[in-house]
Amino acid sequence: VNRIELTDKLKASGPFLVLAPLAEITHPAFRKLIDRQGGCDLFFTEMISSSAHLKGGPLEPWYIDPSPEPGRLIYQLVGSDPDEIVRAALSLSRQKPAGIDINMGCSAPEIMKKGGGCAWMRKPEAAVRLVASVRDVLPGDVSLSVKMRLGEEEKPEELLRFGLALEKAGADFLTLHPKTRKEKHSRPTRWEHVKTLRSALTIPVIGNGHITDYPIARKRMDETGCHGLMLGRQAVREPWIFKRISMDFSGRRESFTVDLFDLLVEFATLLIQNQPPEFYRTRAIRFSAWYYANLFWGHRLQTSDIMAIRHPDEMVEIYRRYFDTHPEERVKTILTSL
Ligand SMILES: Cc1cc2nc3c(=O)[nH]c(=O)nc-3n(C[C@H](O)[C@H](O)[C@H](O)COP(=O)(O)O)c2cc1C
Repeated sequence: VNRIELTDKLKASGPFLVLAPLAEITHPAFRKLIDRQGGCDLFFTEMISSSAHLKGGPLEPWYIDPSPEPGRLIYQLVGSDPDEIVRAALSLSRQKPAGIDINMGCSAPEIMKKGGGCAWMRKPEAAVRLVASVRDVLPGDVSLSVKMRLGEEEKPEELLRFGLALEKAGADFLTLHPKTRKEKHSRPTRWEHVKTLRSALTIPVIGNGHITDYPIARKRMDETGCHGLMLGRQAVREPWIFKRISMDFSGRRESFTVDLFDLLVEFATLLIQNQPPEFYRTRAIRFSAWYYANLFWGHRLQTSDIMAIRHPDEMVEIYRRYFDTHPEERVKTILTSL
């Protein structure tokens, strides 16, 4: 899709479902897995460092792979130097993605310290200038978006001013993870702020945080009127979640089955095919860290056995042994919630 089509799709009624950027998780192999499990409307890459991208190290080509499809892909850039972010955005736009996103939400200390991620919200004028400069160089059909948090504190007027200024500077849509910089993943989200942005802005607003099933997704859409929902961790636990939620939204009462072992094997195969050996171990562990939650005794695997693997095949063997012992857990019937 091009930029205009993307905005139109976002504004159309019905939920627009988006895969969140998750470092070391939403790489090309994982995105292909999600696509095979029914897909979603838009895929975010994991954050890509602008400076590393420009330096062009040996692993960079693996971050650029636009799978499953450039037209449904948003590259997310992280960085602190506006000039580098502008140049990296221009460079990535040559892959013809649906868009480029600037990470203004990441609160990890190593990113914040350098002035990237959520640190941009501490310097709103510079952040707005950055968005305008990226918009200036991007081809007209590539969208530009920002993923953000509430900021340092919960200050609705400041958030609103920031959102309006980003819109004026040329952002095509915004994603809000409604928590302050300090709040960790376990803290509750405050969706009234998604509603505030949604009501005041002309551009689409996507809400993100703690969506785990259809009833919550429905509630968030209804209470905020937001244009889309972005899911992160639940998509790793349940790579079929988008299919399930869209069936529910369309009012279809259906069921389907998922073979948890086959799905894991598929992920391991995609990982080996689509990522370099340097990434095999960490990416397998990262995936399993959420996927194991499907298994009754899964926590036992994750704390010891999985941490010791060196290759995705070893992860497959661990899960094979698990299902040999607990065959009744292998096939799961997924029923829509209605
Ligand atoms: C392991 C992990 C890695 C993440 N990496 C990124 C990232 O690269 N860029 C980003 O903007 N947010 C990142 N986030 C935040 C998520 O995109 C999302 O905002 C957060 O997980 C809340 O959504 P969820 O409850 O659906 O998971 C990450 C979160 C987690 C748990």
